[in-house]
Amino acid sequence: MNSAVMVERARILSQTQFAPNAARIDQEEIYPWDNVQALADAGLAGMTIPKDQGGLGIDWLTTIQAVEEVAKGCSVTARILVECNLGAIAAIMRYGTQAQRARAADLVLQGDKPAICITEPGAGSAATSMTTTAQETVDGFVINGTKHWITGGGVSKLYLIFARLIDRLGHDRGIAGFMTVAGDAPGLIIAQREPTMGIRGMPEARIELRDLKLPKTALLADTNSQPYGFKALMSAYNSQRTGAAAVALGLAQAAFELARDFVIEREQFGRPLAEFQGLQWMLADMSVQIEAARALLYRAAASDVDGFPDPQLAAHAKIMASETAVKVTNDALQMHGAQGYSRNCAAERLVRDARMFTIGGGTAQILRNLVASNILQRKLPQTRDGYAVMAESTPVPLGIAAE
Ligand code: FAD
Ligand code: COA
Repeated sequence: MNSAVMVERARILSQTQFAPNAARIDQEEIYPWDNVQALADAGLAGMTIPKDQGGLGIDWLTTIQAVEEVAKGCSVTARILVECNLGAIAAIMRYGTQAQRARAADLVLQGDKPAICITEPGAGSAATSMTTTAQETVDGFVINGTKHWITGGGVSKLYLIFARLIDRLGHDRGIAGFMTVAGDAPGLIIAQREPTMGIRGMPEARIELRDLKLPKTALLADTNSQPYGFKALMSAYNSQRTGAAAVALGLAQAAFELARDFVIEREQFGRPLAEFQGLQWMLADMSVQIEAARALLYRAAASDVDGFPDPQLAAHAKIMASETAVKVTNDALQMHGAQGYSRNCAAERLVRDARMFTIGGGTAQILRNLVASNILQRKLPQTRDGYAVMAESTPVPLGIAAE
């Protein structure tokens, strides 16, 4: 399949179907099942899935360009497209067994957006402090813990759960991934939906894992994997960070175009607003920021460290795109004057939609830690104990992909 065809399909769907419904999805806070069906019908859901699993084997760069197009029309639908192609599904396609890959592909190609369960009430940025355990038994694993802020909790069928693997002798073998499908086993309980500021059509849920019994075949990446469990899962997660950056970029572009059209149209002091240099320079700055974010994002998406985007380049892209989205959407609202403050104006929704991207998927501060670690060519442990051993630690930089 020609990559340009997929981006064009995304663009047309975004303009004709997703954009006209975006305000309604926000107001009613409903998951857009019609849009999900359209993504599946167009082959956009699961387009990164390899051909041997029924997908199109589309590359990361094409995928994020398609996400960007969808995000210009509807942030919720763009986030669905991200999770149907990047992050959890990418991890499963890369590290999963044949049975896991087939099951996951089957769901995602129909539009099921997988949910990735890392964060816990007491372990957000400090994800490696998670306390959810997977206790190994004779015939499988029993999982217990609480996950929070799980995107799609309640609408997703497929869940990739990060948990601390405890072997039968009680040893903590580190963080591993477990794949499960809602309804396959009791014990995965959607406990509460968060009332969120933006992207309101997407549920963000707290999930209780109560004696969730999974078979041995649920294990995705463990300490014996190469790379080992948590590192493997985070490597795949870099693809999702570029996806988040693409949503932020697309909605920033939408806000920019909205503001540009508005200032050309509206007059004050007997002249179009676009005649005032103060606003011309705002437009120019918005454009520069968007183009800079796009350049970083495309570079990250085209990079390759063991099959996934380079961690540092993904961090550059997500920091830049998320902060650009916050700035540009706010400037777009400002340029609308009071009209921008009205909930009838798309700028108001875009400000709210943009806000999550400097937080979810690794905060802008945590990503800066990753970047700084690369600059200084050494680990920068954040725990008190970590600082004590830091002097002895061997430099293990995450590295930038070779050009
Ligand atoms: P905290 O870690 O408590 O951080 C609070 C503040 O302190 C932040 O500003 C942070 O940057 C700063 N901070 C913390 N540690 C440091 C440090 N060492 N140095 C400098 N600053 C620091 N999680 C999932 O597992 N799955 C999902 O699908 C998912 N979806 C999400 C969707 C949305 C809309 C949001 C908002 C979050 C989502 N998350 C998800 C959770 C997200 O990954 C966490 O919110 C994020 O990792 C930060 O954790 P926290 O919210 O607990 O903040
Ligand atoms: N890509 C590839 N590997 C990564 C990675 C990434 N983005 N982030 C971390 N790793 C690797 C590290 O290189 C390290 O590997 P090593 O054991 O070979 O040295 C290992 O994972 C542990 O990372 P480290 O930074 O030592 O862990 P930490 O205990 O200090 O925890 C993180 C820090 C990784 C939890 C923190 O930087 C982070 O990313 N928090 C945000 C979590 C997040 O994105 N949640 C989103 C949920 S949707």
